[in-house]
Amino acid sequence: MNETVIVLDFGGQYNQLIARRVRECNVYCEVKTYKTSIDEIKRLAPKGIIFTGGPNSVYLDESPKVSREIFELGIPILGICYGCQLMAYTLGGKVEAAENSSEYGMTQTEFDLSSPLFKGLKPASVTWMSHTDYISELPEGFVSVAHTSDCPVAAMENRQAGLYGIQYHPEVMHTENGTDMLKNFLYEVCKCSGDWSMSNYAQTAVKEIRQKVGGGKVLLALSGGVDSSVLAALLSKAVGSQLTCIFVDHGLMRKNEGDEVEAAFNGWDINFVRVNAKDRFLDKLKGVTEPEAKRKTIGEEFIRVFEDEAKKIGKVDFLAQGTIYPDVIESGSGDAAVIKSHHNVGGLPDYVDFKEIVEPLRLLFKDEVRKLGIELGLADYLVWRQPFPGPGLAIRIIGDITEEKISILQDADYIFREEIANAGMDKDINQYFAVLTSMRSVGVMGDSRTYDYTLALRGVTTTDFMTADFARIPYDVLAKISSRIVNEVKNVNRVVYDITTKPPSTIEWE
Ligand code: XMP
Repeated sequence: MNETVIVLDFGGQYNQLIARRVRECNVYCEVKTYKTSIDEIKRLAPKGIIFTGGPNSVYLDESPKVSREIFELGIPILGICYGCQLMAYTLGGKVEAAENSSEYGMTQTEFDLSSPLFKGLKPASVTWMSHTDYISELPEGFVSVAHTSDCPVAAMENRQAGLYGIQYHPEVMHTENGTDMLKNFLYEVCKCSGDWSMSNYAQTAVKEIRQKVGGGKVLLALSGGVDSSVLAALLSKAVGSQLTCIFVDHGLMRKNEGDEVEAAFNGWDINFVRVNAKDRFLDKLKGVTEPEAKRKTIGEEFIRVFEDEAKKIGKVDFLAQGTIYPDVIESGSGDAAVIKSHHNVGGLPDYVDFKEIVEPLRLLFKDEVRKLGIELGLADYLVWRQPFPGPGLAIRIIGDITEEKISILQDADYIFREEIANAGMDKDINQYFAVLTSMRSVGVMGDSRTYDYTLALRGVTTTDFMTADFARIPYDVLAKISSRIVNEVKNVNRVVYDITTKPPSTIEWE
C-alpha cells in the first residue's frame, strides 16, 4: 500500500492534472468526488488532501461544500482556487465577488518564503490566475503568504493546523515553479517519502498478478494501442505462456498497423492470435453511414469475432482488461452527456466464458502506462503510439465505407504522419490524423478537370482529450503534406486543415 494523497474534486477542469502532478512527484494520488464521506476519507488514511478549483461561487447555496469536520481530522489540506475560497469560507473568512480583484492569466505574485509551501523558491514569480471571487477576510488563525497587486490573499496558511490555500493554479505549466510548490506541500507539509515509482509498480504488479492467476489461463483482447500493449507486456512478464492475446484486425487500422502489431509481439513468450476479419467487418458495414450506427456495428462484430476465437481456446480463468485510471474516476461534476458511444473492450465480459477479470492498469494515468511500457522494455513506437479509436478508420471516413476509401485514407494518413515525424513534431501534437470527408470538388491536374475527394487533416494538442486546441502546425509543413498527398494519393485533389477546438467540435469527425 503506497502513501496516498486525495484530490477532492469540486468540478474543476484540472482535477486529473493535479493528480498527475502529484504522482510526478512520486506520491500516489487518487481523485475523489467532494461528496466523499468523512468515514471514507478516514478509511483511506491519506497523507494529505487537495481541494480542486471549480466553476462556482462558494457563497451560493447550490455550490459544492464540505463539512467543517474535514479540517479537524489532522490531515494537511491544500485548497486550490475554489478549494482555497471554500476553506476560507467554511472556516469563517469572507469571500466576495471581486470588482478589481478578479484576475485571469499570468500574474506577477509575491511570496512569503518563510511558508513551507514556498521553501527554496523565488520571492516573486508568475502564477496562473483564473478567479472572479476573492478572499476579503481571512479566517481566524490564517495569515496571507502571497499577494498580487490586485489580490491581497494569493495564498494563505494556518501552519499549525496544516491548512494551506492558494488562489492560483500551481498545476498548470504557466505557473512558474508550480510543481515545486506542490512538492513542498507533499514533502514539507504532508511529510511524504515518495514511494510511487514505475519500477516499484511493475515489480508489485507482477507479484500480484502471479498470486491472483496462479496456474490459470489469461485471455486478452489486444488492439495494439498503448494500454493493451503495455498490459500484454506486463502479463507476459508475470505469467508468460499462460497468456493468450487475440488481436482482431478489422481491416480499419492505419497503413501497415496490423503487421506492425503482429511483428512487435513476435518472439514474446505468449500465445498470439491474429484474426484477419476485414471481410466480416466490411460486409456488416455495407450501407451503414450514420456515425453511431457504425460504432455499434463495429462494436458488436468485434465481440462476435472475439467470441468465436475465444471459443476455440475453451474456458479461460481470467479476462484481462486495459482499464486505466481516468476510466474509473468518479468525479465531482457527475452528469456528463454521452456525446459518442466509445468502443473499447468494455463490453466483453458477458460474452466470454471466464471466472474473473484482471485489470492491472486500473491505477495508472496514460503517461504512467507509457512509463511502465518503457520499464518493461516495450518497443518505442508502441509506447508512444497516439490514441486510435476502437472503430478505427470507419469513423474517419464520412458516410459509407468502401475498400477504395480505406486505402485512400490509409495512404494519406501515412504521409501526414511521416511528415509530422520529419518535422520533429510527433511528440508535441497529441493526436493527428487524416479524415476522408467523402465530399468531392473540382480541381485541375495537368490540363484536365478532376472531380475528386477532399481530405481533411486534424491535429490537436490536449492534456486529457476532453478539451483540445488545434495544433499550430507551421504553414510550410502543411504545404509539404498537402503537396505530397495530392501528388501521391490518387483520387484526392484538395486538402484542408481543421482549425476548430474541442468544444465545440470533437477530436474525431464522427
Ligand atoms: P472525441 O472525438 O470524442 O475523441 O473528441 C476523444 C478521444 O477519444 C478517442 N476515441 C475513441 N477511443 N474508442 C476509443 O477507444 C472509441 O470509440 C473512440 N472514439 C473516439 C479519440 O480518438 C480521441 O483521442
